[in-house]
Amino acid sequence: MIKLTNLSRVFRTQDVETTALSNINLTVNKGEFLAVMGPSGCGKSTLLSILGMLDSPSSGSFDFAGTDIAGYSEKQLAELRKASIGFVFQSFNLIDELTVYENVELPLQYQKISKSECKQRVEAILKRVGIDHRGEHLPQQLSGGQQQRVAVARALIINPKLILADEPTGNLDSKNGDEVMAMLRELNRDGTTVIMVTHSEKEGAYADRLVRLLDGQVMLDKANTAQQAVEVA
Ligand SMILES: Nc1ncnc2c1ncn2[C@@H]1O[C@H](COP(=O)(O)OP(=O)(O)OP(=O)(O)O)[C@@H](O)[C@H]1O
Ligand SMILES: [Mg+2]
Repeated sequence: MIKLTNLSRVFRTQDVETTALSNINLTVNKGEFLAVMGPSGCGKSTLLSILGMLDSPSSGSFDFAGTDIAGYSEKQLAELRKASIGFVFQSFNLIDELTVYENVELPLQYQKISKSECKQRVEAILKRVGIDHRGEHLPQQLSGGQQQRVAVARALIINPKLILADEPTGNLDSKNGDEVMAMLRELNRDGTTVIMVTHSEKEGAYADRLVRLLDGQVMLDKANTAQQAVEVA
């Protein structure tokens, strides 16, 4: 589903050049659950931005679903992104002025769906993440864990092929964090590809595969044996 070949990202400001990613080679197959780990500044968020088509590589290629997207225009990238990728961020990124229902409905604006189907889908997804009783609330009227569940619902509403999560539990206590992790795990079991950045070894253990970055390079890429231990337990 994803193939990065010799991909680099260099940030250039007037007098400084920062190599955030250096010659990354990475293949992610449909249905995988990948955890990306590594110290602060190693390039995790940069990698996720590129995978999410919010940023472009400086060199190298990025194949998404069999197509090299290097030649895509901004508009084509945005269309592909809106149709296939759901994002979950550390800081939830909900729109304060919109209700829970409206936040989750938002990504459907770009799809040609009738009002009634829209309503059906939003209600079903709110139920799925256990927040259907808070549809008319504003984000600030919710706990952190609830807000992140709304963010997960918003990511899911388009039936994405890929979920990208950047420290999705970074602002949550451990109980709410565990709930969000369990939700990502379940989504992955249902077939969605998940790529998650995390600082936590415990959360990394939810994934099937672990990629460790250091200074913008892949230091380790291996099947996650800890995951099996989690499943047995
Ligand atoms: N817009 C930018 N302009 C210049 N340098 C940048 C920019 N974004 C990131 N960088 C640099 O690229 C490197 C990788 O940053 P990135 O945000 O990907 O790290 P990270 O692994 O996500 O770190 P953290 O764990 O702290 O979130 C850092 O050295 C950072 O300073
Ligand atoms: Mg980061």
